[in-house]
Amino acid sequence: EIRSLYGLEILDSRGWPTIKATCTLSSRAYASASIPSGRSTGTAEAWELRDGDQARYRGRGCRQAADNINTIINQALRGRDITSQQDLDQALCELDGSPNKSRLGANAILAVSISFARAQARERGISLYRHFSELLEEPVTHFPRLTINLFSGGRHAGRQVAIQDVLMVPSGASSIDESLVTMSNIYQTAADQTYETYGMRLLTADEGGQAPPFESSEVMLEAAVAAIEGAGYRPGEDVHLAIDVASSHFYRDGQYELDQRRLQPGEMIEHLCRWRSRYPIVSLEDGLAEDDWLHWPHLCEALGNTTLILGDDLLCTNPERIVRAIHSGACNGLLLKVNQIGTLSEAITAHRLARQAGWQVTVSVRSGETEDDWAADLAVGWSADQFKNGSITQSERLAKYNRLLEIEAGERLPIRPWPRVLKPGHTR
Ligand code: PGA
Ligand code: ZN
Repeated sequence: EIRSLYGLEILDSRGWPTIKATCTLSSRAYASASIPSGRSTGTAEAWELRDGDQARYRGRGCRQAADNINTIINQALRGRDITSQQDLDQALCELDGSPNKSRLGANAILAVSISFARAQARERGISLYRHFSELLEEPVTHFPRLTINLFSGGRHAGRQVAIQDVLMVPSGASSIDESLVTMSNIYQTAADQTYETYGMRLLTADEGGQAPPFESSEVMLEAAVAAIEGAGYRPGEDVHLAIDVASSHFYRDGQYELDQRRLQPGEMIEHLCRWRSRYPIVSLEDGLAEDDWLHWPHLCEALGNTTLILGDDLLCTNPERIVRAIHSGACNGLLLKVNQIGTLSEAITAHRLARQAGWQVTVSVRSGETEDDWAADLAVGWSADQFKNGSITQSERLAKYNRLLEIEAGERLPIRPWPRVLKPGHTR
């Protein structure tokens, strides 16, 4: 039973407001959770409630969302017989009553959902990742393979190039610790190479990725391969690449405005295939735009046998969109961001649908994060295939990596092998 709920407006890693909630149970066990926020958002995401008062944080204040926790949600849920996560999340959705959580705000709702989960884990005296695993009703079988941001472009870096993220996949590493060592070597090498090429010190983007003034996406990919080699690793063997093209953000009037080019969808797919054949890419996120449903199955057919075709903006962790993508063979992997959908229970549904279809699941944080580390527990607890958490600088990222190190120190689990054989996304 919930004794009280408390909401507070706090600041995220970009200095914009977000929400922290504290849940106290009748046993007096209590816990807090804070919620991230995206910049490169999908249009089908659940609604983040913002105050709109231009005099405070350019309209991005979250006082109303915090207030909704303190008044409407607290009054409706306190003292009520809510013992399971599902009961809570259902009650929150009913209380909100809108299709996209716009009345109370998905930021308010998710903060309550996660703080309740953490309070329950505390009450039970178990780790949060164990509790997450029990909520999913699946055992923890392995640690996720890390995909770590090296270079940034797109909306996260002022759009100097089209591709939003180039991530390192330390596929040869057999532990979280070894993955981070590998990444550190590559990150430092890339920083040296940037200095040699551009004569500039490190400039970093929203997720701590390096953002030199690359002339094109290809130059960015070449630099990623050079950094792997420079650090003494074999590209395509020890370390692979994952890219987030985030192409919804350069899709206009049915065409892709990629760097200096304008490509028809078919040409865009050919372009992605060329990248795939020239660079050691094992994962391709949002290669096409969020509403280009017609062409996603062609992309998945072309590359899905060898490459993870991940839907982020396409799916928005939304069960209805996931079902549509499964039926049309649009992708073979879910990028799971809990705040895109707004409750833990709905994210569980999303996860189950993806797994039943034979897809892989990448648990991801957002570009605007806080020092909270629950996403690391979620990635472990739900045995994610991959974890996407940005770069290895900036404390909002390190809170999660450090939590993984802590879990690994107490728990001997294998890390997910990669590349492993992918199921074709084509299910028609
Ligand atoms: P966002 O970006 O958190 O700014 O939406 C992350 C991503 O596109 O994967
Ligand atoms: Zn993305």
